[in-house]
Amino acid sequence: TRLDVAPVPPDEIFALNGAYFADTDPHKVSLGVGVYRTDDGKPWPLPTVQKAEKALVEDNDLFRHEYTAIEGDVPFLGIARDLMFGFEGKQSEEEAKARIGTVQTVAGTGANHLGALFLAHHMKPRNVWLSNPSWANHQTIWDLAGVPRKAYPYYHAATRSFDFEGMMNTLESEALEGDAVLLHACAHNPTGLDPNKEQWVAIADLCERKKLFPFFDSAYQGFASGSPEEDAWAVRYFFNNKPDMEMCVAQSFSKNFGLYGQRVGAFHYCLNRSSTSIRDVVVGNLCHLIRGEFSMGPRSGCSIVKKILTSGELTAEWNQDLQVMSSRIKTMRQALYNELIRLQTPGTWEHIIDQSGMFSYTGLSPKQVYALKDKYHIYLLKSGRASISGCKDTPHYDYKEYELTPCTVSQKNVAYVAQAIDDVIRN
Ligand code: LMR
Repeated sequence: TRLDVAPVPPDEIFALNGAYFADTDPHKVSLGVGVYRTDDGKPWPLPTVQKAEKALVEDNDLFRHEYTAIEGDVPFLGIARDLMFGFEGKQSEEEAKARIGTVQTVAGTGANHLGALFLAHHMKPRNVWLSNPSWANHQTIWDLAGVPRKAYPYYHAATRSFDFEGMMNTLESEALEGDAVLLHACAHNPTGLDPNKEQWVAIADLCERKKLFPFFDSAYQGFASGSPEEDAWAVRYFFNNKPDMEMCVAQSFSKNFGLYGQRVGAFHYCLNRSSTSIRDVVVGNLCHLIRGEFSMGPRSGCSIVKKILTSGELTAEWNQDLQVMSSRIKTMRQALYNELIRLQTPGTWEHIIDQSGMFSYTGLSPKQVYALKDKYHIYLLKSGRASISGCKDTPHYDYKEYELTPCTVSQKNVAYVAQAIDDVIRN
């Protein structure tokens, strides 16, 4: 071969998912990849999505397998943009929309990648600043785009809280004009800790003053609070209140519509208000990158989103689906917390209920995480990140009884998880 390839480390999240599926132990618990699970540990195709699918099949649309445009399914682009930006800000709707160039992407990863590539070509930031920690794929994406990475403090391990001061001080003293700053719009992955509104305002002011470029990753709109409006607060605040600052948003529909494998996403570049005349040129350049890589985003998942968000009735039902998912996650946080308190597991556990979104950053060490896998077949990331909806509820649970019960995969498991955590912490 003429290939020059060195081994690359496997992607931790998907390697762990593979290991979980291969594990034949009936107790096994998947707290790794960020996918929503029901109380029976099953995937949950959203009822609204199933309705939309049925309607799409009934429509028997002759064109449904045809090409769309390079920028994507055109009506979908406006729908995605309106979901993200809302337009209840100070500017008139038309002026606001004129600032945004939108293209369809291969879900959130594709949006992050396209945005990174676009900036690397057309803005050439000296650095991109990622939170420490961040979603591991952010590192890969920016490395592939060839933009040097730096890290701003985000997590204060001793107090298990958001290190706002550390973030601000580092960006203030070290970030250079034109640097990109990656911000998680809500439900920070992996820590589950978000800035409050006052802190977001300060971050926006800092970006404006230091001429930094905010790059929002919005993967969980509707998951953190159950409300798509509330979870878009930071993005909308930056956009509406800093019209002279440019920014962009990578938008995923994987979690909030449960369309993981369908790869539905959008990338929005927000121009400052004096530069709207180049919006079409920006979109043209994004299309150039898209055409050279995958021609256009996939069609069927975005038809589902379009069907839902163009019907008032289906949109209302989708909002209920979001409530179901976000409140189940909150319930499981509480259930896990209650069990750990009941067991008097050494340590403090309030952070499990205080964090928000899909993940809990448990504070478990890599050694404890490995022990959970080896001894209990419980899978979570070595950083201690646990995808909380992998837990199942156990009302009036008695651990001893559980041990005597024949185990099945559908066995309620939160007490098993808590007991296992308790054991690896004590031993
Ligand atoms: C995760 O962080 O587990 C999810 O966002 C899935 C992924 O693509 O990594």
